[in-house]
Amino acid sequence: MKQKNIRNFSIIAHIDHGKSTLADRILELTDTVQQREMKSQLLDSMDLERERGITIKLNAVQLNYHSKDGEDYVFHLIDTPGHVDFTYEVSRSLAACDGAVLVVDAAQGIEAQTLANVYLALDNDLEILPVINKIDLPSARADEVKHEIEEVIGLDASYAPMISAKSGLNVEDVLEAVVKYIPAPKGDINKPLEALVFDSLYDAYRGVIAYISVKEGRIKVGDTIRFMASGAEYEVLEVGIRNPKEVKKDELVCGEVGWISAAMKSIKDVRVGDTITTVANPAKEPLVGYRVMNPMVYCGLYPIDNAKYNDLREALEKLQLNDAALQFEPETSQALGFGFRCGFLGLLHMDVIQERIEREYNIPMIATAPSVVYHAYLTDGSKVLVDNPSLLPDPQKIDHIEEPFVKASIMVPNEYVGPIMELCQKKRGQYKDMIYIDDTRMNMIYELPLGEIVFDFFDRLKSLSKGYASLDYELIGYQTSRLSKMDILLNGEIVDALSVIVHRDFAYPRGKAITEKLKTLIPKHQFEIPIQAAIGGKIIARTNIKSLRKNVLAKCYGGDISRKKKLLEKQKEGKKRMKSVGSVEVPQEAFMAVLSME
Ligand code: GTP
Repeated sequence: MKQKNIRNFSIIAHIDHGKSTLADRILELTDTVQQREMKSQLLDSMDLERERGITIKLNAVQLNYHSKDGEDYVFHLIDTPGHVDFTYEVSRSLAACDGAVLVVDAAQGIEAQTLANVYLALDNDLEILPVINKIDLPSARADEVKHEIEEVIGLDASYAPMISAKSGLNVEDVLEAVVKYIPAPKGDINKPLEALVFDSLYDAYRGVIAYISVKEGRIKVGDTIRFMASGAEYEVLEVGIRNPKEVKKDELVCGEVGWISAAMKSIKDVRVGDTITTVANPAKEPLVGYRVMNPMVYCGLYPIDNAKYNDLREALEKLQLNDAALQFEPETSQALGFGFRCGFLGLLHMDVIQERIEREYNIPMIATAPSVVYHAYLTDGSKVLVDNPSLLPDPQKIDHIEEPFVKASIMVPNEYVGPIMELCQKKRGQYKDMIYIDDTRMNMIYELPLGEIVFDFFDRLKSLSKGYASLDYELIGYQTSRLSKMDILLNGEIVDALSVIVHRDFAYPRGKAITEKLKTLIPKHQFEIPIQAAIGGKIIARTNIKSLRKNVLAKCYGGDISRKKKLLEKQKEGKKRMKSVGSVEVPQEAFMAVLSME
C-alpha cells in the first residue's frame, strides 16, 4: 500500500453521540466484518462496557476502502473512549492519528466533552472532520448544530456529512470525506524506527501486546527494540494488524498502525506514550509523549469475608495487568480489617473496577467513600500526601492543607443556569466565566475543589438540569483551604473508615447530614447506638439509633414455617453486605453516607 493511500483517524464525540454505532457502520461498509457476524458495537469488547454503553479500552482496526476516486485506501480506525475519566486514553489514541472524525448528535448539539475532545485533537495537530449524526431523530436540528460547530469551535462545517449512524444513511460520505480531508501519514520509511506506543494489553500466553503507530522507519520480527523512555530492550517475536481479528505480518512500516509482541513481562515496562526504536539504528529523539496520568480518586476496598483478602489482591493484580492507571497498596482499618487503598482516574473508573471485582472474581466487598489526595504541610516544614482521611496527621502538627482544584466546564440550557450556579456555590466553586453557545445554551466555567466533585456533584448536576447538563473538568493544581478531619463515632468509638476531610465552614451541616443519614442506614440493634460527628475531639453533631424492640420472627404468628424461613433468608441477604464494627453491624451503604449533603 502506498503511504499516500493510508488514513489514520479516530472518532471523537461526547458520550452517547454515536461513535460506536458509526464505527460499526464503517466496519460493515468496508466489508471488514460480514453483517451476519457483526455483533453490534464490535469495538467495545468487554461485556461490562457493552452493558454500561461506554467505551473504555481503545482498539485499532485496519480497514480497506475502495473510494469513488477509483483508488484503494487503507484506513486505521482507532476507537476512543468518551467519558471524562478516560481523557488520558483519548489523548494517547489521538497522538497515533492524523485526523479525527468529530461526531455531534444533531439533537443534543455540542456538549462539554465534544469541546474537550476537540481541544485534545487540536493539541495533537489533527485535522478535524465534523459529522452530524442522528439526523433521523424528530428532534434533530442539523443546521443549527452546524452553525454551533462553526460558532463555538470555529471549524468549517459546510462540508460536514449529515448522517444517521443507526440506519447507515450517508455513512459513505464520511468515508469519502476521510479520504479527501484527512491527510496521509508523513513518515519516511528509510529513517530510523520511531513508533508510538498508544495502548497495551496483557495476554496470559504472550505477555504484553503493545499497540503502536509507526511514525518513521519500519519494525519487523527479529528486530531488537528499545523503549526510549524506560530503556527496556526486547526482541520482537510477532508483529501484526487487527481487522478486527489479529493478523500476523512480517513487518509494519511507517504510516501503519498495529501491534507487536516481544515476551514483555509487565505492562509497566511498556509505558503508553513511549517511543520504540531499534537498537541497531536508533532514532535520536523520542516522539512527543503523553502526560503520565496519576490517580485522582482513592478509596479503600475490603473483602466482607476476611478469608478473601488474598483473592482480592490477586484480582487487583490481574486487573492492573491491563490497566496501568489502577494503583493499589495494602491498608488496614480498625473498623474493616485488612484491605487495599486503591487509586483511580475518576469515579467511573472506580465504579468499573469495583464492579469487575465483584462480577468477574466474585468477591463481595465494602468500598469506603472516595477521597482525593490532600497535601498536608506540617509545622516542621515537611509535606505529607494524604489519600485516606483517617490518616491526616494530628491537627497540632499541621501548618496548612492544600486540596486539588479543577476547572469545570458545564454546558446547560439557559433555564437551569440559576440552580446550577447555586449548586456550584454550595460546592465552594469560584465563578470564572459564562459563554453563550447559542440562544438557548450556556457554557459555565467554574473552579471547584475536586473533593466536592467526587461527592454527589455529577448526580446533582444531572437532576437539577433534568439530565441536560454536561460536565468536563481538568485538574488545575492545588490551593490552600481551611480543611479539617471529621471523625464519626459509633457507640462511642471512632470508625476510621468513615472519617472525612471537610471544609470548616461546612463542617456543622455536613456532620449533621452524615449522622442523620447513618441513622437511616444502620439497622436497629438490641441496644441503643449513639452516632456522633467530631472534629479534633469536639462533638459537633449527634443522634441515636433506638434499640430494637421486636425481632423479625415476632411478626410471624404461630407455625407458618415457610414465612419464617423467608424472613430469615431476607435477613441473611441483608447481612451479606454487613461488616461488624465493634459490636455494631454496618451495611455497605453506610460507608457512602459521608457523601450525603442533606
Ligand atoms: P460511548 O461509547 O459510550 O461514548 O457512546 P457512543 O458515542 O459510542 O454512542 P453509541 O454509538 O453507543 O450510541 C449511543 C446511542 O445512540 C445508542 O443507543 C445508539 O443506538 C444511538 N444512536 C447512534 N446513532 C444514532 C442515529 O443515527 N440515530 C438514532 N436515532 N440513534 C442513534
